[in-house]
Amino acid sequence: MRLDLTVNGIGRRIDVEPYETLLETLRTRLALTGTKLACAEGECGACTVIVDGDTINSCLMPALAVNGSEVTTVEGLANGSLAPIQDAIVASGGVQCGFCTPGFLMTVHSFLKENPDPADDEIRMAIAGNLCRCTGYAQIVDAVKLVVTQGA
Ligand code: FES
Ligand code: FES
Repeated sequence: MRLDLTVNGIGRRIDVEPYETLLETLRTRLALTGTKLACAEGECGACTVIVDGDTINSCLMPALAVNGSEVTTVEGLANGSLAPIQDAIVASGGVQCGFCTPGFLMTVHSFLKENPDPADDEIRMAIAGNLCRCTGYAQIVDAVKLVVTQGA
C-alpha cells in the first residue's frame, strides 16, 4: 500500500505492507537504521521517533497510521553539526553500548522543546520510558542538565 511521509525534512513515497510497523519501514525501506529495535513491545524506548511533534514508539505504530505525517529520526537531529543533546551525551559519558542512545536523544530533544528549563525530577520523569542497561541513567540526566545550563 502507498505511504507518503516526510522523513527528516524529505518527502518520501513508498509501498509498505499493511501490517508493517513504522520502525520496519524506517529501517528496512529507508535505511534509517539509527532507530533501534529492542523489545518490540513498547517497553524500552529504543525505537523512539518524533511524529508530528510527539514522541512515539515506532515498534508499535503501524506505518500506514502515520500516512501524511512528519517524522524525525535520530538521523535528522544533526544539522551540519551535532545537536546540543548529542554533544552533551557524549561529553557526560551517557553513551556506553549506545543501543538506547537514539531513543534517549529523541525523547530528550522533544522534551526540551516543551520544557527548556526542567527540574531534575522532571528530567527523570521525561526519560522514564527509555531503558538503559549500561549507564545507570545519571550520566544521561547530566547530559540533559548540561544542555539546559548551556541554554542550547
Ligand atoms: Fe519499541 Fe522497545 S523496541 S519500545
Ligand atoms: Fe547501553 Fe544504554 S548505553 S543500553
